[in-house]
Amino acid sequence: KKMIKKGIILSGGMGTRVGPSTKAISKQLIPIADKPIIFYSLSILMLLDIKNILIIVKADDISSYKKLLGNGKSFGIKISYIIQKSPKGLPDAFLLGKKFIDKKPVALILGDNFFHGQSLVELLKGVSKNFKSGANIFTYNVHNPQDYGVVESSKNSIQIVEKPKKTSSKKAITGLYFFDHNVSKLSKKLKRSKRNELEIVDLLKIYLVLKKLNITELGRGSAWLDTGTSRDIFRASNYVDIIQERQNQKVGCLEEIAFKKKWINKNLLRSRIKFYGKNEYSEYLIKILNEKI
Ligand code: TTP
Repeated sequence: KKMIKKGIILSGGMGTRVGPSTKAISKQLIPIADKPIIFYSLSILMLLDIKNILIIVKADDISSYKKLLGNGKSFGIKISYIIQKSPKGLPDAFLLGKKFIDKKPVALILGDNFFHGQSLVELLKGVSKNFKSGANIFTYNVHNPQDYGVVESSKNSIQIVEKPKKTSSKKAITGLYFFDHNVSKLSKKLKRSKRNELEIVDLLKIYLVLKKLNITELGRGSAWLDTGTSRDIFRASNYVDIIQERQNQKVGCLEEIAFKKKWINKNLLRSRIKFYGKNEYSEYLIKILNEKI
């Protein structure tokens, strides 16, 4: 069985709610704990063995992303970039990424989303392995479903609702999606919503009508955080810091993942350590380098 081989990280947006910082820097380059926010979403794709990745960014930010991540060689993967001129909505990723997708299945992850948890990667890998056609979304129970796209289910019907004012469901749709080769074609059919954006919820509704929408629930043993506000980032930082401190292992360390998967050799890891200079993140990489495998 083949797994999904391509991934898109949507890392544009205005990041208004994380202002004033986002007037000068891309939100997804601000750190959660000791590394940029985008490291966490990129690490999820890498853990799913997705090595061909498109990052969608704002025009102003592209040089910063390239400085940090380059063409992906440092992580044994391939990274390309496309500029999104203005935030037209999440499905815009499939219009901008049409050529990249090239009629193959694709994973989309939002650059500001954070996923973590025991056996989470195994669960996601299982879905990727068995993915044939349609779309797969992942839900997570939250106390504030009204802030997200929500899955409502009754006896024998399922509904997808964008930011419902009132709902009995707790199931928020997280920022990770798997789509089949039809996604660019179907996204082209979407009309702008009242807030003048293409809505991922509308795209999901098309798949739902076609009976091609699969929903996977992420259990309470895993964590899904988004980083919409400065406080969200602060709290996610605390979460990561506590776990990293306790275990003496890092969450979302791209070079560690690449090295342990044998996608990069010791020399590449060494040059990465040199690139970062003297800091705690580098010290961790030195530890990885010297570990006996
Ligand atoms: P949002 O939370 O909708 O937008 P934002 O992060 O820019 O925040 P704010 O509302 O404070 O201005 O976006 C979720 C993620 O998707 C985020 O990582 C930005 C990204 N995004 C794009 O890259 N392009 C888009 O067109 C949209 C709508 C979002």
